[in-house]
This record gives sequence, C-alpha cells and structure tokens, in this order.
Amino acid sequence: MKQVIYAIASAVLLLAVSCNNDAQQETKTTADAMQTAYAEKPDSATRVKRGEYLVTIMACNDCHTPKKMTDKGPMPDMDRMLSGYDASQPLPAFDTVAAKSGKWAFFCGKGTAFAGPWGVSYAANLTPDGTGIGNWTIENFKKAFREGKSKGIDAARPLLPPMPWQNYTQVKDEDVEAIFAYLKSIKPVENRVPNCIIAFEKH
Ligand code: HEC
Repeated sequence: MKQVIYAIASAVLLLAVSCNNDAQQETKTTADAMQTAYAEKPDSATRVKRGEYLVTIMACNDCHTPKKMTDKGPMPDMDRMLSGYDASQPLPAFDTVAAKSGKWAFFCGKGTAFAGPWGVSYAANLTPDGTGIGNWTIENFKKAFREGKSKGIDAARPLLPPMPWQNYTQVKDEDVEAIFAYLKSIKPVENRVPNCIIAFEKH
C-alpha cells in the first residue's frame, strides 16, 4: 500500500514538474521568438510606429523642428521635420552679455538655436540625410542619445544644453532602437547644421 502511495505521489510530482517546465519553456520560446523577430526586422512597421510615438511624446520636435509663424502662433514646420537649425538662416542677434552671465538663456524665434553660458548650440539634423544621421549606426545613436556624446563618438565633446540627454540615460535598448528606426524612415532633409560656439570663443 505504502509503495502504491509513493508511486502515485511521485507521479503527481513528476507531472507538476513537467507542467512547470512546459510553462517556462513556452515563455522562453515566446521571448526568444520576439527577440529573433526584433533582431531580424530592425525596420519593421511596428518598430517604426513605436519610434514615432516615442519621438512625439518625448518632444523631440520642440527643439529639432524649426517653427514657422502662423495665425495660431509658432507651429512646427513639418516640411522640415526634425531637420534642426536651418543652416541657410543667419543667426539672429541676441544679448551676448546676458547670455554669457548666465542670467538669461535665449531661444531663437524658430526654436532651434540656443544661447546661454555654454555658448550657442544648434539643434541637430535628425533626418536620414548624409548631413543628418544618414551615416550613423545604432551604436552612434545610442552613444549620442544616452551618453551625450556628439555624433555618437566616444572621444567627441559632450552635447550642450538644452539637449536633455541626462533624462534619456535610462531609455531601454528597444526604445532607442525604435526611435532610431523611425528617424531613419522619415523624409531626409539636406541641412548641415553649423558647429556650436563653445562659450563664445570659437565657431
Ligand atoms: C530642449 C531641446 C531638445 C530636445 C527636447 C531634444 N533635443 Fe536633441 N539636441 C538638442 C540640441 C540643442 C542639440 C545639439 C547639442 C550640441 O550640439 O551640443 C541636440 C542634439 C541631439 C543629438 C546629437 C546630434 C549630433 O550631431 O551629435 C541627438 C542624437 C538628439 N539630439 C536626439 C534627440 C531626440 C531623439 C530627442 C527626443 C527624444 C531630442 N533630441 C530632444 C536639443 C533638444
């Protein structure tokens, strides 16, 4: 009798273990499949859509898209979406003494050039043109976006304000990849943004 009970008990135990294994196996397989699909389809429509959503809610257009004046006030000029400071436009004059003192910071009217104690920074061209991020790899983009390195190069200067890269250090890999996939999918705009002016010393 005892033996029968043992046999039943161990059969139940075995069944429980194998069910559990099955469940784990299934979860792992689904995760693996998602990972593979993700790696195999870097520009899948879903990823691009998620990137568009993130770019919208993370306000990249606020600084990287020039504004045009409308009867409703300044609105993003979507013909030049995310193309940064328009290099064909001269930098408007501003009070350099106030900017240098750190008492004031200035945004140019188009909202794409910024002056403050750091000097003058110009919002970058994030479109997939050669003058934007067309030749960037995902590694360059991660380094620029999460570590604040200009052009995504280790030895390069740190990105200047107001690029809020410090807020983006925790953004997950898949989200950075989605943003990058979206940026690579938008209309390329040829626009070589000027070099920043560091603390008013050089162009
Ligand atoms: C408050 C303004 C602001 C916001 C918001 C902003 N940026 Fe920026 N960004 C800048 C400025 C200004 C620069 C140029 C900084 C410099 O040259 O030092 C820049 C630079 C960059 C660079 C580096 C480009 C290069 O050539 O090295 C990347 C990449 C970038 N931004 C991506 C983004 C993305 C993606 C978003 C939205 C998730 C975003 N930025 C939101 C202002 C902003």
